[in-house]
This record gives sequence, structure tokens and C-alpha cells, in this order.
Amino acid sequence: MSKTIVFKCGGSVIRELSDEFFQNLKELFEAGWKIAVVHGGGPDITRMLEKLNIQTEFVNGQRKTTKPVLEVAEMVLSGSINKYFVSELAKHGLPAVGVSGKDGRLLLADYLNEKEYGQVGRIKKVNGQMAETLMEKGFIPVIAPLSMTDGCETLNVNADLAASAVAGALHADQLMFVTDVKGIMKNDEMLSALTPEEVEDLIAEGVISGGMIPKVNSAAAALTGQVNEVMIVSGKGSFLREDAFIGTKIMKQKEALL
Ligand SMILES: Nc1ncnc2c1ncn2[C@@H]1O[C@H](COP(=O)(O)OP(=O)(O)OP(=O)(O)O)[C@@H](O)[C@H]1O
Ligand SMILES: [Mg+2]
Repeated sequence: MSKTIVFKCGGSVIRELSDEFFQNLKELFEAGWKIAVVHGGGPDITRMLEKLNIQTEFVNGQRKTTKPVLEVAEMVLSGSINKYFVSELAKHGLPAVGVSGKDGRLLLADYLNEKEYGQVGRIKKVNGQMAETLMEKGFIPVIAPLSMTDGCETLNVNADLAASAVAGALHADQLMFVTDVKGIMKNDEMLSALTPEEVEDLIAEGVISGGMIPKVNSAAAALTGQVNEVMIVSGKGSFLREDAFIGTKIMKQKEALL
């Protein structure tokens, strides 16, 4: 049976993905891996909000997703970024279909906390059928992180958490967080393998901060399900060398390394 791999491509790196990155994806695809991608888009959303002069409110350092912000977020995530990524994959000979988490009711969510965060969802269910069908037919589903409530309202969801939920629902063997750094760094060195417990200690020590926190939390969430291994890798270079992934591996138990 062929293996499934889910990639989350950060908004931080999506427009700077290297040729090697796409070559590596192609190698996996040609080796028979089924591939699905979830992408972010924070920097592009910020630029568009500025361009359109839409006022934004901040709560605990996070931008509140008001209805006008959601409208722009959906336009950018489901529109420009999603189609940009589909085009890049096509350029490299990879057949992709761009969808959002709303299509096929892929991502079902409830409001996280409407008063505090606005139109932001907490994923409660993933209907993987549409993505599975696309992968069965040889396509790479490229998923924008939007979701629907039971009442069909649109909610924005965190892309790291969405990738983790999709990986679980697709019974992915591997989940890859593609970002703008080589992996998890400590004192200028990349840590090659960590358990969720070690990750927690690094958060407490302040070594892991900012945007890396939702990523490692999503990694830990994926590992409590069926996903065996999660990696943080860079999209700026190569993430695959002689069948081994390059970056920080987060795994249930270190012994499995031996
Ligand atoms: N210990 C650490 N090692 C590496 N990066 C870290 C660490 N702690 C914090 N970071 C930060 O995490 C960032 C990656 O997360 P970030 O949320 O910015 O990117 P992304 O998730 O790929 O993109 P986006 O959130 O736009 O989709 C790095 O650029 C770095 O600044
Ligand atoms: Mg991020």
C-alpha cells in the first residue's frame, strides 16, 4: 500500500520555495507517495489588509479575525496563494488541485472563542473523502486553511493545526512542517530529534517561541493519533537526501531512532 505524506507550507516561505523543494516533492510523488498540502498565508493577508486599508484589532498580540478580515483572508488564502502554489507545482510537473477546507466539507469547526478571536475555528472533524479521492486519482490536494461550521459559516483555522488534523484523518505516515528555518534551533544548532516531552521543556525554557509554538503543539497533537513521525524542515533548500528527511524530527520515542 502506498504511503501518505502531508505537508504544511508556511506563509513565511511559500513564495520562496526552492527548486530543490519541488524536486524533492517530485521524487516522493514518483516513488508512489500520496501527497496532500495545507498552506498558510499570514504575510500576504497582512499586505492585502494594508492595501485595502482595513483596520485590524489585536488581542494578545494576535490579529482578531473580524468579518472584513475574514473576507480578505479567504480571498488571499483560497484565491491568490492557493492558485500560486498550484501553478508552482504544475511548473514542476506535479498535478495539483487547489481547494479550501470548505470544499467537500473537509474541515468542520466550531468557533474557538468568537468574542476574543472573531471568525476563528477550532477543528472538530475532518472529512477526508474528497482529499483521498483526489490522491487516489493521482492529484495533490492543496488545501487553504478555512473551515465551515455545522451552519455553513466560514471560519479561519490555524494552518499548523489544520495540517495536523488532515494528517490524522488521512492516516498519513508522515507530516512535514515546511518553514523558513532548517528545523528547531538551540544556540545556533539544529536539534535533529525531539520527543513531545523535550519540546515542552524547550518551550518552558524559552528556546521555542513565537510561530514555532503552534507548530510543535500541532506536531504533538498529530503524534497522539496515527501519525508516527513529524518533521520541521526548511522550504528554502532540500529536505530529502538519499531517502532520509533533513530537519528536526519529532517522534513519540527516541528509541525508534535506533
Ligand atoms: N527554537 C526555534 N527554532 C527555530 N525557529 C524558531 C524557534 N523558536 C521560534 N522560532 C521561530 O519560528 C518561526 C517559524 O514559524 P512561523 O509561524 O513564523 O512560520 P510558518 O508557520 O512557516 O509561516 P506562517 O505562520 O506564515 O504560515 C521561525 O522563523 C523562527 O523565527
Ligand atoms: Mg506559523
